[in-house]
Amino acid sequence: MTTPLHVLVLAAGKGTRMKNGRPKVLHPLAGRSLLDHVLAVAAELEPSRVVLVLAPGMEEVAASARASGLPLSVAVQDPPLGTGHAVQVATAGLPAEGEVLVLYGDTPLIGAATLRGLLQARRRADAAVAVLGMSPPDRTGYGRFLQEGGRLAAIVEERHADPELKRTGLCNAGVMAMDAARLPELLAGIPHRPDKNEYYLTDIVELARQRDWACVAMEGPWQDGIGVNSQVQLAEAYRLFQERLRQVALEAGVIMTAPETVHLSADTEIEPGAILEPYVVIGPKVRIGARAHVQAFSHLADCSIDHGAEIGPFARVRPGSRIGSGAKIGNFVETKNALVEPGAKVNHLSYVGDASVGARANLGAGTITCNYDGFSKHRTEIGAGAFIGSNSALVAPVRIGTGALVGAGSVITMDVPDDALAVTRPQQIVRAGHAATLRARLAARKAGKP
Ligand code: UD1
Ligand code: MG
Repeated sequence: MTTPLHVLVLAAGKGTRMKNGRPKVLHPLAGRSLLDHVLAVAAELEPSRVVLVLAPGMEEVAASARASGLPLSVAVQDPPLGTGHAVQVATAGLPAEGEVLVLYGDTPLIGAATLRGLLQARRRADAAVAVLGMSPPDRTGYGRFLQEGGRLAAIVEERHADPELKRTGLCNAGVMAMDAARLPELLAGIPHRPDKNEYYLTDIVELARQRDWACVAMEGPWQDGIGVNSQVQLAEAYRLFQERLRQVALEAGVIMTAPETVHLSADTEIEPGAILEPYVVIGPKVRIGARAHVQAFSHLADCSIDHGAEIGPFARVRPGSRIGSGAKIGNFVETKNALVEPGAKVNHLSYVGDASVGARANLGAGTITCNYDGFSKHRTEIGAGAFIGSNSALVAPVRIGTGALVGAGSVITMDVPDDALAVTRPQQIVRAGHAATLRARLAARKAGKP
């Protein structure tokens, strides 16, 4: 029988240092909130239960977490009195068996492999507590591990650490694995810190040592343990996360000539052999098929790019777009909620919204689907093999039949049957020699002659 694993995610902090009033753990990082990053990793460990610790009034965070589909309950700290208090509140109703893993909601890059390593390290030593340490380049703000005789003796918060410990001690990543049976005694012993009116979770290490219970410190990759307390740290976490996403994509066979300029999302799916040119930005829920080619300065979100499709340069593929295999979306083209079937071409300066474009249809430069009347959105359907002349406005709802042809500059307000030709521009007038006559008259007027 496997031992039950309870994961606690601490997220009750106000996030004052973020300086914008928004709950810290709801700040987005590459298409996912900080909290969703942590919950996704928790899910990989298949826990028996996840307890999310929040402060009163954080319903928005609770609702977002419930959408994760995890076996999750919310514990409310009223008022929040530190990380130790958070764990006391979270474990109040839990059985004292199995393991408890504490994650901080503001540590989004934590990886499942690192957590598995920590859990194993605790089990191997039958330790009361195992803590994750790291050596990040910027050590500001982290607690430090105090080692004595090669053993972890305590975790000292930065403001209480002496200069030597600040410089040499491993930083506390804020992740702890604990033996559920011994935890209640440790939690009950956490002293009150009057200076901050808090109970520090980190104090349980010293309490365990006093009882001669084993404590394990495991150093993990520092990128895993980066904590986000400010906008500066959020931007740094984003940079590190992008590096990780690009590395995974390159190793999987995605072609990127300047990967450092390409921005991906946590859930981006790209098949091997797809090409991403420089300065491509990919928002959430994007799938890119093999041999698709996304050219420079394109922006994609919530869309699917099929095998061999060509996008950009300077294209914007918005939510609900599916670009079929071999189809082309060219420069300054915007699509939204649009199905562009295989082989269709929308090569220049177009807006295709709430529309379907049949296979091999060709939309000339400047074709616009007029999908919005100020109140509602309407659909445009363009049949397979249709040809839309440049600078045409298709006023939805409207249907252009299979193989139909629309003359350039038309404003189409009625359906066009299959294989029909529709033109709405006025008849062209040609008057021989009139340009020369007009020029002569205007020149004479300027020269002051009658
Ligand atoms: C904490 C650690 C520090 C560690 C660092 C890693 C303590 C005392 N300090 O400091 O050793 O190096 O994280 O990032 O644990 N929270 C609650 N309830 C509370 C207070 C905080 O749920 O009453 C949550 C916060 O929302 C946050 C996490 O716990 O997600 C950590 O709190 P934070 O205030 O960010 O602690 P740090 O100063 O970063
Ligand atoms: Mg923090």
